[in-house]
Amino acid sequence: MLWLAQAFLAISLPLAGAQSYPNTSIPTNNTTNPAELSNATSPPFYPSPWMDGSGGWADAYAKAQSFVRQLTLLEKVNLTTGVGWEGEACVGNVGAIPRLGFQALCMQDSPLGVRFGDYVSAFPAGGTVAASWDRGVFYQRGYQMGMEHRGKGVDVQLGPVVGPLGRNPKGGRNWEGFSPDPVLSGIAVAETVRGIQDAGVIACTKHYINNEQEHFRSPGSFGDFGFVDAISSNLDDKTLHELYLWPFADAVRAGTGSIMCSYNKNNNSQACQNSYLNNYILKGELGFQGFIMSDWSAQHSGVSSTAAGLDMTMPGDTGFDTGLSFWGPNLTISILNGSVPEWRIDDMATRIMAAYYLVGRDRTQVPVNFNSWSLDTFGYEHAYAMTGYGQINQHVDVRDEHYLAIRSAAARSTVLLKNTNGSLPLKGREKFTAVFGDDAGDNDLGPNGCPDHGCDNGTLAQGWGSGTAYFPYLVTPLDAIKNEVIGHGGVVQSVTANWAYDSIVALAKQATISIVFVNADSGEGYITVDGNAGDRNNLTLWKDGDKLIQNVTAHCNNTIVVIHSVGPVLVDSWYNNPNVTGILWAGLPGEQSGNAIADVLYGRVNPGGKLPFTMGRQASDYGADLFYEPSAGHASIQDNFVEGVFIDYRYFDKNNISPIYEFGFGLSYTTFSYSDIKVVKIPAGTYAPTTGTTKAAPVLGNFSTDPADYQWPANLTYVKAYIYPYLNSTNLQEASMDPEYGLENSAYLPEGVSDGSPQPKIAAGGAPGGNPALYDVLFKVTATVTNNGTVPGEEVTQLYVSLGGPDDPKVVLRNFERLSIQPGQSATFSADVTRRDISNWDTVTQNWVISNYSKTAYVGSSSRKLVLSAQLSL
Ligand SMILES: *[C@@H]1O[C@H](CO)[C@@H](O)[C@H](O)[C@H]1NC(C)=O
Ligand SMILES: *[C@@H]1O[C@H](CO)[C@@H](O)[C@H](O)[C@H]1NC(C)=O
Ligand SMILES: *[C@@H]1O[C@H](CO)[C@@H](O)[C@H](O)[C@H]1NC(C)=O
Ligand SMILES: *[C@@H]1O[C@H](CO)[C@@H](O)[C@H](O)[C@H]1NC(C)=O
Ligand SMILES: *[C@@H]1O[C@H](CO)[C@@H](O)[C@H](O)[C@H]1NC(C)=O
Ligand SMILES: *[C@@H]1O[C@H](CO)[C@@H](O)[C@H](O)[C@H]1NC(C)=O
Ligand SMILES: *[C@@H]1O[C@H](CO)[C@@H](O)[C@H](O)[C@H]1NC(C)=O
Ligand SMILES: *[C@@H]1O[C@H](CO)[C@@H](O)[C@H](O)[C@H]1NC(C)=O
Ligand SMILES: *[C@@H]1O[C@H](CO)[C@@H](O)[C@H](O)[C@H]1NC(C)=O
Ligand SMILES: *[C@@H]1O[C@H](CO)[C@@H](O)[C@H](O)[C@H]1NC(C)=O
Repeated sequence: MLWLAQAFLAISLPLAGAQSYPNTSIPTNNTTNPAELSNATSPPFYPSPWMDGSGGWADAYAKAQSFVRQLTLLEKVNLTTGVGWEGEACVGNVGAIPRLGFQALCMQDSPLGVRFGDYVSAFPAGGTVAASWDRGVFYQRGYQMGMEHRGKGVDVQLGPVVGPLGRNPKGGRNWEGFSPDPVLSGIAVAETVRGIQDAGVIACTKHYINNEQEHFRSPGSFGDFGFVDAISSNLDDKTLHELYLWPFADAVRAGTGSIMCSYNKNNNSQACQNSYLNNYILKGELGFQGFIMSDWSAQHSGVSSTAAGLDMTMPGDTGFDTGLSFWGPNLTISILNGSVPEWRIDDMATRIMAAYYLVGRDRTQVPVNFNSWSLDTFGYEHAYAMTGYGQINQHVDVRDEHYLAIRSAAARSTVLLKNTNGSLPLKGREKFTAVFGDDAGDNDLGPNGCPDHGCDNGTLAQGWGSGTAYFPYLVTPLDAIKNEVIGHGGVVQSVTANWAYDSIVALAKQATISIVFVNADSGEGYITVDGNAGDRNNLTLWKDGDKLIQNVTAHCNNTIVVIHSVGPVLVDSWYNNPNVTGILWAGLPGEQSGNAIADVLYGRVNPGGKLPFTMGRQASDYGADLFYEPSAGHASIQDNFVEGVFIDYRYFDKNNISPIYEFGFGLSYTTFSYSDIKVVKIPAGTYAPTTGTTKAAPVLGNFSTDPADYQWPANLTYVKAYIYPYLNSTNLQEASMDPEYGLENSAYLPEGVSDGSPQPKIAAGGAPGGNPALYDVLFKVTATVTNNGTVPGEEVTQLYVSLGGPDDPKVVLRNFERLSIQPGQSATFSADVTRRDISNWDTVTQNWVISNYSKTAYVGSSSRKLVLSAQLSL
């Protein structure tokens, strides 16, 4: 049990990785050399920055400080520490402050709705709405999800997701996030955060960072492999800034109240105790004002994680229901014995409360009225302890009229990939409509029949894992198509058994139109479906989808294929078949799946979605693969991100690989043309590095250092396995129950941990999101887009930039706008280009610089159809 000794020390060890990988240089090179990345280290950075109220947080900061000033040490500890798994109604709950009538905060999954809630909506997944490329859709979905969480009593919605970003399309949780492109993800996450928080709920942007695969994501047992240490994502500073960190910067700038640190290691240091990434990058350079929350059981140390910037531990126990915690009593002790300075816990509590006030929780909070562990009306308040029997569910319907926007978002996110001779939209006069595929119909076990949707039965409308919500109903494609055809007086029949080839062929022969539904699923690693332990094993269709399509196309010359999938799938064996007259990618559309696809099939909605990823010919076209086997000795896999910033279309472009459908591609029932690109230079100041020093760390209130004041209250009714802040002995070592206690003398604490004096500001920092001048608009690019067809349509017009250097991608997406244009009319596309958009990260100066290479702006309809271009001259 080497990792126990190495990583699980509450009081003593500064940084799990630090002892095995002492004090080496920051991996600041742009290296893509595996020999340099392997065994990379993450340098220490202390002290943990304290918030300063900048960037719109001033008011919330002031309120938080005056609240925290009133708190005792035990109450502060309560705010930071979860009560343990299944200790209260939500998936995560911290302690309350009864003395002030302060309700315990409730943290609830998921990024697409209220997990475990009844009478909630099941929204389309992040990776699906990304295909809408529509800021309004992103915002509205965020707002409505926020309203539903608010109505259930949730304080923190555990979403949105921009990590995984989607380094490899097989990554099991990619669909919870938006897109492997950092700009599309960045715009989507910012709008989602604004939406959730405008609804009065704190957003938790996750998982920070580089949690790009499910296999071996945390130290512990994975499948049948036994104990395997957590994978280490090893990457250089340039790749971090230009790719994986980019959307987190947008989330921070949008004011995300919370960020969740991830399960994996980064450069061999566990994410939740990685002082470089949490202190220097997130709270330092990005000026993050909110609180860092651990993923569930991603905290592996006490003082180390406190010093490295963690502010809240979830679900609070060392492992589910151990009744022990790295914090709770251990956090109280670490303050009393001086391992952690008082200003640090004050900052933790202030950050949590500032997020609370920022979104107006003081005005919007209602008592939690649902229960994650049971849908019954009556049950246990403390599910694990099985105590506190009473009413646990009030069955509050929080759905409002969100189904309208859900249906519209799903339809607007549907991507038309092929449409031979205007086969689509269907006219509604088809004589004989045949529908094929298990993916068209119901799950025999019910829409919520598989725990956390951990199966691929019936139509696929969400992936599996914690990033899910119960369906209030699931409108299947078959239901919707039947309604449609019956309404038009046609004939409609279906075969939903994928392997019933005789029946499939017999029906295909009769059909005037066949619609085949196929899918590919993935999810979180704690559930294995059809041998896929979270991550997909391959990119092919599930349930022999290719054979199903082939059976139909062999006998029907008008076959439409609809794909429900978590990401790219391989379509090479059939997409070119002339009998395949239409292909639609519908992603994971949520509860209104059938209605949304019928809206597109029958032309009520003209498709305008564009692929938020590349559809390649084969899995190997995507470059870096996932790791499916442990390393020798089950030590941390060294997952070297040697491809640097070249993922998805950037990788295809660099290596001259032809995709089948490129990033940004999507057709419409009309056609558009592009003309008249213009670039206007906007006056902006010069870029000045941020200088000066911060204020000293504020200390909010006094506390007694007498252990006697922190003992268990005599009248407290102990809830089994529950985490409290109290001590069970006046001897701190005894109270800690830490076998390693005593190592906390200063020799073991990294330099600077306790230093609350003013600290130098970071050149690339200065405000939430980084140096504010990064967001100065330097150019405005406009172009004319004309609808040349006979029906109204929407065109996602895309702006790419070539940064011009030999190490730069051919083009990178920098902006987009979804334009609605009447037939024969034109619209003006207009997009800003900021300083950040044309900068590279310079590892030497540790700042963004505009290189001397000439920069070009491109405007077009996809990453490979860039019909207009113009120089960006400074
Ligand atoms: C304090 O943390 C250590 C691990 O570092 C753990 O062994 C111990 O049980 C914890 N103590 C309490 C009271 O939870
Ligand atoms: C970075 O590059 C410098 C100079 O090329 C080299 O000396 C140093 O070892 C490199 N650092 C790492 C972490 O590879
Ligand atoms: C990246 O490193 C290579 C090799 O050291 C160097 O030639 C190249 O100029 C560097 N690129 C940037 C953008 O710093
Ligand atoms: C990384 O460390 C391991 C264990 O010490 C060692 O076996 C391996 O050779 C190292 N890899 C590189 C590329 O240095
Ligand atoms: C800490 O939270 C628990 C659970 O909500 C509560 O029972 C206890 O009274 C709180 N302690 C303090 C000191 O507020
Ligand atoms: C439903 O899902 C379960 C679990 O994945 C699987 O074993 C079963 O075969 C599926 N049923 C159908 C009808 O596909
Ligand atoms: C890919 O995985 C799916 C789902 O497990 C499976 O149905 C399919 O047979 C696999 N494809 C190949 C080529 O192995
Ligand atoms: C249907 O698919 C099965 C399995 O691939 C194959 O054996 C059969 O020949 C196909 N039938 C037709 C008519 O294509
Ligand atoms: C399909 O075949 C039928 C009958 O041969 C023919 O009338 C029709 O035009 C064909 N449709 C397409 C889309 O090729
Ligand atoms: C297309 O469908 C027709 C039946 O309409 C069939 O005769 C023909 O073989 C099919 N072509 C292909 C390439 O499957």
